[in-house]
Amino acid sequence: MESDMTRRAFFGAAVATGAATGALAGGEARAETAAKSIKIIGLSCSPRPGKTTAAGLKAALEAARAAGPGVETELIELAGMNIPVFDPAAPGSADFEKVAAKLTDPKVAGILVGTPVYFSGMTSLAKAFLDQCMAMRKNNFALRNKVAGVLAVGGVRNGGQELAIEGVQAALLCQEMIVVGDGRPTAHTGATLLNQNDDISADEFGLSTARNLGRRVAEVALCVAAGAK
Ligand SMILES: Cc1cc2nc3c(=O)[nH]c(=O)nc-3n(C[C@H](O)[C@H](O)[C@H](O)COP(=O)(O)O)c2cc1C
Repeated sequence: MESDMTRRAFFGAAVATGAATGALAGGEARAETAAKSIKIIGLSCSPRPGKTTAAGLKAALEAARAAGPGVETELIELAGMNIPVFDPAAPGSADFEKVAAKLTDPKVAGILVGTPVYFSGMTSLAKAFLDQCMAMRKNNFALRNKVAGVLAVGGVRNGGQELAIEGVQAALLCQEMIVVGDGRPTAHTGATLLNQNDDISADEFGLSTARNLGRRVAEVALCVAAGAK
């Protein structure tokens, strides 16, 4: 189980996958890095189901699948679920437990978190969910060494996408997750998309960051899985 992987095993994995890493440097990450099949989950923290955050995550997940034949994906949307503001005296909810069980499944090697930009930050739904993830931290860091990438969709260009991404990343670092950005050639903080009339299809640059993010999460997740005991 990657969540139980020791620090030593992780660094051993990094060494063992040196050849794979070399392949990544050449942009050729493929099946040879897939010691076993893995799952990448896209988690949409938009209160609106099936809208632009979900669409961005679908593009990222498609790119993740293309990174290797052993990569399967699933999109989870928090919209409509009961994810309460975290109360230390009464943590969790039935919906949170269901999603938490999926995320902590040992087969899940990567998680793509998507959020709309709300006033230059993540949505309150995203924050509530990430705060509820205190449960994973208390459960022996159950998200440890899973690879994470973050995607944000705003209504304007430079509307705070990077700030929203960094807020989510900061919370994921507290889970000992391996946080990555969008891969080359864009290679920055994460996926930054622009919503134009509830449509992201004209945002070629934003979509390229989503695809580069999905591919990058899968590449690193495959490397970790290839070396995990
Ligand atoms: C309360 C609220 C605040 C928003 N603040 C911003 C913002 O600061 N910057 C921005 O670019 N877009 C902002 N938007 C627009 C949303 O980020 C954008 O419509 C996004 O695509 C919504 O995601 P969804 O389609 O998944 O619901 C805001 C929208 C709402 C409802």
